[in-house]
Amino acid sequence: MVANSHKSAPCFVTLEGIEGVGKSTNLAFIRDWLSQHGHDVLQTREPGGTPLAEQIRELLLAPREEVVDSDTELLLMFAARAQHVATVIKPALAAGKTVLSDRFVDASFAYQGGGRQLPMARIAALETWLLAAFKPTLTLLLDLHPDIALARARQRGEADRFEREQLAFFIRVREVYLQRAAAEPQRFAIIDAGQSLADVQRDIAALLANRIGACAS
Ligand code: TMP
Repeated sequence: MVANSHKSAPCFVTLEGIEGVGKSTNLAFIRDWLSQHGHDVLQTREPGGTPLAEQIRELLLAPREEVVDSDTELLLMFAARAQHVATVIKPALAAGKTVLSDRFVDASFAYQGGGRQLPMARIAALETWLLAAFKPTLTLLLDLHPDIALARARQRGEADRFEREQLAFFIRVREVYLQRAAAEPQRFAIIDAGQSLADVQRDIAALLANRIGACAS
């Protein structure tokens, strides 16, 4: 029998957190864990995940002289997301794949709502319009104080337009992530990213084992 032939529901896992919390390393760990547990994994990211959405990503991340209006930024995030959901995420889920995305709509609430201080209702309206009730099955939030996370992120070379923001911006981003995790404990799991990598990955493996039962193979 094919390992995931009795999968009972599509599984959409997202990873969130501010820059410098170890998202890239842990994404690879999550992808490998899921594959080893019988999931046919499609790994993707936001903004991005399709050729058009990756072009929008380049527009969004490039440092530029022109001041980027926060509504423009928000709309570009959702334009990329609309394309990504319609042409990649939903078709993959329909084909029985497990989708693993580096960021999703929670990032718009955290960065544009928290960081840029746009009204949450504006973001919620776009979410309702473009996603309706479509949500991740499980969202893993790698949490770390921005002081430590930013110091890590800034060792990585050329900073993008978001990485150039001040500490206060990332404190607000983190705050919204934590608020959203507290409001939806059945969807979110918070991981202490300040631990050693081995401990972070032990926690992630335990969470995956406990929390994706509904869509596990
Ligand atoms: P990353 O993939 O390297 O984390 O870079 C993506 C950047 O885009 C990151 O700084 C977070 C930001 N972002 C938003 O501001 N809003 C969003 O909705 C998404 C998906 C990402």
